[in-house]
Amino acid sequence: MTFLFNSDARRGAVFQEIFARELPDLPFSMEPATVDPNAVRYLISWTVPADLSRYRNLEVLFSIGAGVDQLEITEVPDHVKVVRMVEEGIVRMMQEYATLAVLALHRNLPAYLGQQREQVWKALPQFQAQERRVGVLGLGVLGRAVLERLKPFGFPLSGWSRSVHDIEGVTCHAGDAGLEAMLAETGILVCLLPLTDETRGFLNADLFARLPQGAAVVHAGRGPQLDHEALIAALDDGHLSGAMIDVTDPEPLPAGHAFWSRPRLLLTPHVASVTQPHSAARAVTENIKRMRAGLEPIGLIDRRRGY
Ligand code: NAP
Ligand code: GLV
Repeated sequence: MTFLFNSDARRGAVFQEIFARELPDLPFSMEPATVDPNAVRYLISWTVPADLSRYRNLEVLFSIGAGVDQLEITEVPDHVKVVRMVEEGIVRMMQEYATLAVLALHRNLPAYLGQQREQVWKALPQFQAQERRVGVLGLGVLGRAVLERLKPFGFPLSGWSRSVHDIEGVTCHAGDAGLEAMLAETGILVCLLPLTDETRGFLNADLFARLPQGAAVVHAGRGPQLDHEALIAALDDGHLSGAMIDVTDPEPLPAGHAFWSRPRLLLTPHVASVTQPHSAARAVTENIKRMRAGLEPIGLIDRRRGY
């Protein structure tokens, strides 16, 4: 029974050390070329390896990231559990990124950066936090953690998900009617949805039009959820006041793409949140211990839902 690590060697070295301490009876390998494929029960990877069928006794495929859309799940046999990464490092970094983005948009940073380039010294009208509602799309591990971190700033908070949630201090919405209601009063919209057939192209012209005039958008989900041209059009006609975008389609963003130079658009290269090896290795070893105790792993993917 072997755990196979199929990702970068730097993180692998940390995993190896933590596995040796936490699960000394479980052989650990970073060498697909030399490992006995029949011994591999657990595999961690970003994508599905082309030679997955070699691992005939595989029981669990762990994603090294929080998202699983990059794993072509139809290539994974039905009996293999697919588990996404739920670890405190990813959560903390996403809390930082979303807070940075919400405060930057709230305090007109994109417009002030433009003014700085033009050498313009001019105060812009400033809403107070209590006057600007932040709405989060997705109330999973990351959406909930971001809302929790935003609470002290005093923004009215809303969230939207597929199923009904109840979060103290957050107006929770679900379903189509709930989305309509949330968008209509959202000043800053944060997208933290997983990429599925239902969320592909979700941030589009129709959705932007349902936001109030002057709203702003933060996108830290996945690139294919965003209609790039619709975002540019909504910024151009002034319906949206700004945006902070971490994920695009494709990635890297090609040279000359409108996002590179669009005023009032802040762009980061898919760095909102990155798996942290120490906390990730502890999360994975805890999950293996859970499964050995007959429990379901944390972050088990529901294949029908796609997340
Ligand atoms: P999660 O715990 O699985 O939560 C997903 C949330 O989205 C849930 O609340 C779910 O609703 C909701 N949802 C899914 N499909 C929906 C739909 N069709 N309509 C309404 N709500 C829907 O995921 P997470 O750990 O929070 O991560 C979210 C995503 O963030 C990841 O999938 C990944 O794409 C992205 N991410 C990006 C970065 C980055 O650096 N930019 C880093 C990490 C993760 P229910 O609660 O009702 O199930
Ligand atoms: C990063 O985007 C992740 O899914 O962890």
